[in-house]
Amino acid sequence: MGGGAEMSLSGDQEQALITAAFAAAEHAYAPYSDYPVGAALLFDDGAILTGCNVENASYGLALCAETVAVAKALCEGRRGGLLAVAVVGLKAGADPITPCGRCRQVLNEVAALGATDPLVLCVAGNGVGGEVRRAVLSTLLPHAFGPANLA
Ligand code: THU
Repeated sequence: MGGGAEMSLSGDQEQALITAAFAAAEHAYAPYSDYPVGAALLFDDGAILTGCNVENASYGLALCAETVAVAKALCEGRRGGLLAVAVVGLKAGADPITPCGRCRQVLNEVAALGATDPLVLCVAGNGVGGEVRRAVLSTLLPHAFGPANLA
């Protein structure tokens, strides 16, 4: 992904991002699936923006936590600088969840705008000290379609 600024986080940064994802999941509006998800995005100025899943009585309209977080970031005027993402499903127990396919594509939009390849922290749902699986977005979404394809 175009000379992306792949990086690793300090332990403190990682903990802050994971804690923010858990906190976001507490606000999940998931009455239909009863599967609260939280996501937290870390930007290169140190800002952390969060999202939770937002469901709807028309089930198919559900928004994933990562998608909500990206929408918030774009609405704030961010166009890149995405360094890392943490995602957690509170009901996932000791199993870290990974972003769904649609969310990988949505995350890629911000990543591509800033030519970063964000670290994705897939966090187990059983507490802040649980398992964390790490991957970069380009491995979760190889050969991504992005804004450059339309240029
Ligand atoms: N969900 C997310 O928020 N992110 C994902 O990456 C996977 C799924 C939400 C959507 C729905 O509200 C609930 O989890 C169950 O699928």
